[in-house]
Amino acid sequence: MSFGTKIIGTGSGLPSRVMHNAELETFLDTSDEWIRTRTGIETRRIANPEKGETSFTMARQAAEQALEMAGRKGSDLDAIIVGTITPDTVMPNTANQLQAVLGASRAFSFDLQAACSGFAYGMSIIDQYMRLGTIRTALVIGVETLSTLVDWRDRSTAVLFGDAAGAVVFERTEDPDHRVIDTRIFSDGRLGELLCIPHGFGKVPPYRPEYQLHMHKIKMRGNEVFKVAVRNMVDASKKIMQAHKISKDDIDLFIFHQANLRIIDSCAESLNIDKRKLWLNVQKYGNTSAATLPVSLDEAWRSGTVKQGDLILMATFGGGLTWASALIRL
Ligand code: COA
Repeated sequence: MSFGTKIIGTGSGLPSRVMHNAELETFLDTSDEWIRTRTGIETRRIANPEKGETSFTMARQAAEQALEMAGRKGSDLDAIIVGTITPDTVMPNTANQLQAVLGASRAFSFDLQAACSGFAYGMSIIDQYMRLGTIRTALVIGVETLSTLVDWRDRSTAVLFGDAAGAVVFERTEDPDHRVIDTRIFSDGRLGELLCIPHGFGKVPPYRPEYQLHMHKIKMRGNEVFKVAVRNMVDASKKIMQAHKISKDDIDLFIFHQANLRIIDSCAESLNIDKRKLWLNVQKYGNTSAATLPVSLDEAWRSGTVKQGDLILMATFGGGLTWASALIRL
């Protein structure tokens, strides 16, 4: 009998403001038509800190929803991991702040930075602890307020991103039939400059004369990122399916990182997947980075698109570069 990790609750935290492509047309040289055809994105949510919408508050909302669904309290948690590159404060980190408000005094808690792969990395770490039997209940969150890191004058990135949080409560299980079957995480630091934030941290801190505010924003070589994203998500998906002798036809739902509809379509074509099995919400939310996988899982579960016993394949990709895949039997 071996230990594993079961999903027992999911939740989301979304800001209330919906930004349509038409609004971007008012201050950028872009069009609704260009954004829809090149990315599939129609709207995105944008957090308003003046209304108290920040990474921490969105993460808290998602966590409380996930705990409620799971029927667990903060005091049941042994671990909290938050994947984010946009914490409200670097210190204390988001997970520590959540630990305090959730009353999770027994839990260890930390943020990890793996950009869009943050949730998948967190899930992978938790699964290793569960398999060792050292923890019983854990919360993993992906949250991002990328609106604070977007250069709103740069049409090649400003149209792509949105804000959101997604949370999943995991519990240790001995049931071989309902568990996280495997997770695979990867990185390639040689390609870090394809997607980066050059200023604002240790290399060029804000108090140095060479600091420029517009360099404290997301810079991306979109074409190159597109190709690597498809190649790596396809490769990570194939590796994990082959390792477990699982065919694409055995999978009930594919949840790819929601960055761009064309990236998801290209992955589906390369893997020869039935497109009806693809989860899609990039049209509504844009790329919410670490939040795309848990928000998608939450929506798929709450809408009844997936149910207990279904097999899910997740694959994601982000700055770093980082990427990951996961196979989950609900
Ligand atoms: N509106 C109108 N035109 C735009 C535009 C916008 N928002 N953004 C870029 N363009 C222009 C470019 O300036 C370029 O013009 P030019 O031909 O006169 O030079 C033209 O559109 C084509 O640009 P290109 O970058 O080749 O477009 P693309 O088809 O590759 O689409 C992205 C651009 C960013 C949508 C695409 O490369 C992409 O999605 N990349 C991956 C991004 C991503 O997912 N990143 C996060 C990973 S976690």
